[in-house]
Amino acid sequence: MKTNQDLDPVRLRQAFGDFPSGVVAVAAIVDGNPVGLAASSFTSVSLEPPLVSVSIANTSKTWPDLRRADHLGVTVLAEHHGPVCRQLAGPVGRRFDDVPLLVTAEGAVTVSDGLARFDCTVYREVEAGDHTIVLLRLHAVDHGTFGAPLVFHRSGFGHLSPVPQKGL
Ligand SMILES: Cc1cc2nc3c(=O)[nH]c(=O)nc-3n(C[C@H](O)[C@H](O)[C@H](O)COP(=O)(O)O)c2cc1C
Repeated sequence: MKTNQDLDPVRLRQAFGDFPSGVVAVAAIVDGNPVGLAASSFTSVSLEPPLVSVSIANTSKTWPDLRRADHLGVTVLAEHHGPVCRQLAGPVGRRFDDVPLLVTAEGAVTVSDGLARFDCTVYREVEAGDHTIVLLRLHAVDHGTFGAPLVFHRSGFGHLSPVPQKGL
């Protein structure tokens, strides 16, 4: 392997981009309005207790509001959600325009046609350099649409043929 010691953020971002990922929407009602963002750093963490994580940049203006919510929604975005994803990463005032939402009594917000939808609370926040690893505890899951996921790869959206659900 050709090595290069240069770990400047631009090169690192490109190298991290070699790793494909799905994308989630993290959203909640805060002070009466939906607040949220798109995140490709989603990872499943634990089954017992049920935990997932997202890494949020410390520069995020949305996270300080979102973390105040009683419950947060996490949606695994589907292949057709590319424009929704860009919107959820764009100007704050328009993030939820024309996005079909489901809102729980506790204020968790999910995208109604997502592949999987989780109802969560913040379990722990771990400082990690210029990001914070947010561990989320799951309280409910809605899953049953076996469509193709939105895939983020090298700063763009790729394609993954849906794999049929297998019994475990
Ligand atoms: C495909 C995609 C994936 C993203 N993943 C993350 C992520 O994992 N963590 C993060 O902090 N921001 C991520 N962002 C950026 C956020 O969606 C959002 O643009 C950023 O937090 C700035 O908005 P804010 O200041 O309102 O938080 C991603 C954006 C896109 C388009």
